[in-house]
Amino acid sequence: MEVKTFDFKKISNSSGNLVFLEANKDIPFDVKRVYYIYGVNNNDRRGFHAHKSLQQALICIHGSCKIMLDDGTAKVDIELKDPSHGLFVGNAMWREMYDFSPDAVLLVLASEYYDEGDYIRDYDEFIRYIKETN
Ligand code: TYD
Repeated sequence: MEVKTFDFKKISNSSGNLVFLEANKDIPFDVKRVYYIYGVNNNDRRGFHAHKSLQQALICIHGSCKIMLDDGTAKVDIELKDPSHGLFVGNAMWREMYDFSPDAVLLVLASEYYDEGDYIRDYDEFIRYIKETN
């Protein structure tokens, strides 16, 4: 499976670091929604869903966490720990997030407004969806 990651531009000097990204330039979609996840216990796992249309960029802006991506054929685990590094999660991709450090803040940029109808929350349904749409 091809994993798409981003190395965002960073301006660093003696007063710290500034990272920036622009929609449709540094990530391949318009950003309609931003959310962030933090305060996750190290033993907890989140996600367990895919999206029919939504595209996302995940950036662990503080601390670290791991992301498991599953396209229905292959699985990969990616560690996010660099605030200038992003992970693209396209549509039809099962994801699980785990191994959050206590200080982890996972920022998510999303291509669409929240829509529960876009979620596939059942793994067997996800596999059926992949087969139907390919
Ligand atoms: P969910 O996407 O399932 O989170 P995770 O995959 O990290 O476990 O969302 C958790 C809950 O929050 C769910 O009830 C839907 C709600 N939610 C919104 O209302 N708006 C949003 O933008 C997001 C991302 C979630």
